Amino acid sequence: MPELAFVSGRILAIEDAVVPIEDRGYQFGDAVYEFIASYGGRLFQADAHLDRLERSMAALDFPSLARDRLRGDIRRLYDRAGLERAGLYIQVSRGVAPRNHAFSADLTPQVVMTVRRLKEIPPALLARGAAVITVADLRWGRCDIKTVQLLANVLAKQRALSSGADDAVFVAGDGTVREGTSSNLFMVQKGRVLTHPLTAHILPGITRAVVIELCRQEHLTCEERFFDRDALYAADEIFLTGTTTEVLPVVSVDGRNIADGKVGPVARRLRQALRRRAGGD
Ligand code: PDD
Repeated sequence: MPELAFVSGRILAIEDAVVPIEDRGYQFGDAVYEFIASYGGRLFQADAHLDRLERSMAALDFPSLARDRLRGDIRRLYDRAGLERAGLYIQVSRGVAPRNHAFSADLTPQVVMTVRRLKEIPPALLARGAAVITVADLRWGRCDIKTVQLLANVLAKQRALSSGADDAVFVAGDGTVREGTSSNLFMVQKGRVLTHPLTAHILPGITRAVVIELCRQEHLTCEERFFDRDALYAADEIFLTGTTTEVLPVVSVDGRNIADGKVGPVARRLRQALRRRAGGD
């Protein structure tokens, strides 16, 4: 079954899909996006992703898109690809116009999508747990909006890989731990599960929200609280959450083992609960 793209209302092969060079997403990063995973032929949390896409667009004063039409286009693309386990990327730019920082309110938002096979997280990584490094958060002040301006994320991820780690975690100037390069971060401290509160400095992750709910279901206390890098080093467990990350245990930070350096029971339990909820197991 094919991997496909959607551009200007048409479905076509990804290698044939092109956008105009004056798309503002391309020239200014003036675009927002979502990435949705499917499990067993169903797009997980699709409505929550579309809600967030609408919030991102509204926050940047994009004209709104007809939800039913977008949902129909997504369905058509996803069904045509026929991939049970897929990643659906949706990007909406403000529109196409001669290059000018200022924009006109009557531009037409441009929707592009791709649907591709989604690889499972390597079992070896899940078994050993991930290593992360901390990096200064050089991103802009509205990380709650899911824009395509991802250069700080890209460079941080690449730095992590070059240093032999699996990912990087953004830390504020005052030491507050924020989130991963494409994931939210949780830690376990004295039996409580903690994660950064929803502010403009982190993305309100869809998986984060599901995991908070799963904590309740699993009778785990979960609190949205700030914590710093020293608390992270001293955590009993750490894990990252995201659409592609699911629940990924972290066993070392900046080369220091977390607790005994092994995957912890809370991360393991929440990972299983998430996979069950998504219909993946
Ligand atoms: N990224 N934080 C950041 C900075 C992210 O980019 C993402 C997701 C998350 C997790 O959000 P969610 O649970 O809604 O996927 C948190 C997607 C997967 C990406 O960039 O492809």
